[in-house]
Amino acid sequence: MGFPDGFLWGASTSSYQVEGGNDNSAFVDWERRRRWQPCGTAADSWNRWREDLACLKELGANTYRFSVEWSRVQPTPMEFDESALERYAEMARAFKEAGIRPIICLHHFSEPAWLFERWPRGWMESGPADAFIQFADRVIRACRNDVSDWISFNEPMVWLLNAYALGHFPPGFHKIVTLERTFVQGGLIEHVLRAHREVHRMVHADIKGARVGIAQNVVDLEPARQGAADLEALGRWDHFMHRHMLDLANSAQTLDFIGLNYYTRIYVAKAWIPFFPLGVVPAYAELKQIVGELGMKLLGGRVGNRVRTDMDWEIVPEGLGRVALSLSKRYQLPILVTENGLADTSGNGREAFLKSHLSSLQSAIDDGAHVTGYLHWSLLDNFEWGSYRPRFGLYRVDRTNGFKRTKSSGADYFKKVIKNGAVP
Ligand code: FCB
Repeated sequence: MGFPDGFLWGASTSSYQVEGGNDNSAFVDWERRRRWQPCGTAADSWNRWREDLACLKELGANTYRFSVEWSRVQPTPMEFDESALERYAEMARAFKEAGIRPIICLHHFSEPAWLFERWPRGWMESGPADAFIQFADRVIRACRNDVSDWISFNEPMVWLLNAYALGHFPPGFHKIVTLERTFVQGGLIEHVLRAHREVHRMVHADIKGARVGIAQNVVDLEPARQGAADLEALGRWDHFMHRHMLDLANSAQTLDFIGLNYYTRIYVAKAWIPFFPLGVVPAYAELKQIVGELGMKLLGGRVGNRVRTDMDWEIVPEGLGRVALSLSKRYQLPILVTENGLADTSGNGREAFLKSHLSSLQSAIDDGAHVTGYLHWSLLDNFEWGSYRPRFGLYRVDRTNGFKRTKSSGADYFKKVIKNGAVP
């Protein structure tokens, strides 16, 4: 059996990670202060997007997901850059004319620096949502002739967690101890959902047959130990990170599809230390980096023993099918895989990764999951939030040699999959 007719095949990128020159993003100062590697010129896609289009054509892709950089379109609170909007519209038009369906994501982590000058508490206040809606309105109007698929927010929970709980993204709040209070009662989730609902309304008011979704990062979860305690902890984490926002957006009838970003699995344990958020130890690789192997053991967190990517994320292909099937059943909405991939410096792992994950997706479809497409993360090597070391690209980018794009062996394999509409 193959993938369904009309299946969307392609890749994803985000503006800040590939465009380069986004000097008005809040991340620029952040990189200086946190001593991150600066993003700088990235893959120079702002100037080389036609080369990116050529890569997609070479793959035989029919879909491309990219994002529009808020800080570029609105460099100051009072000013919209019409030429930047026109460039995005031109890109969308060119992709469409080449038979590649453009999917625009409006918010992919990066925000203008002025947002936090104006609202130092960020999205804990309601102003940023209003500002974002104005920005979204301009983008929708600029691109409405060529774009019918829209993503309001990329991984809203991952973004909010990093920016307001872990202090890892701007504006850098550390509110992990009061996680639920800040996110639910404190208004963060509510403000983001208000902006999402408005994007859904504006897109549908302007574009016939449009589709609007949220790209949600969903991790395959397993209880650390048998028994009710860890299972309950797992349920709390699953609800908070995966379902809470989607449930609310769905019951307001503002979701036309669900974007699924899938990378790995984690084990979840009940926490015995009182201040752990939601009483849960979610054993992410990132948590292990902070507390160390011993710390993780002391906390009761369990770490899996599969092969890991360069991000230290466990490779668990069957999780993709599992998660796709469960989302499809729960929401009865089309599922579009909007991100899935690996950081692989060796260049040898992408083919096997694609093969195993796509086989898992195929099985989920055979079991009744309504999956409409698969977009690999990423088309290009790019800036992985603080570093260029992780290499996620189907195409390598040589930043020391004119940003030359070179096909990886994974790209050749993906091309075969797309051509056959099946996993060879
Ligand atoms: C996702 C992000 C994307 C990229 C990949 C590796 O969480 O949406 O920007 O960083 O992880």
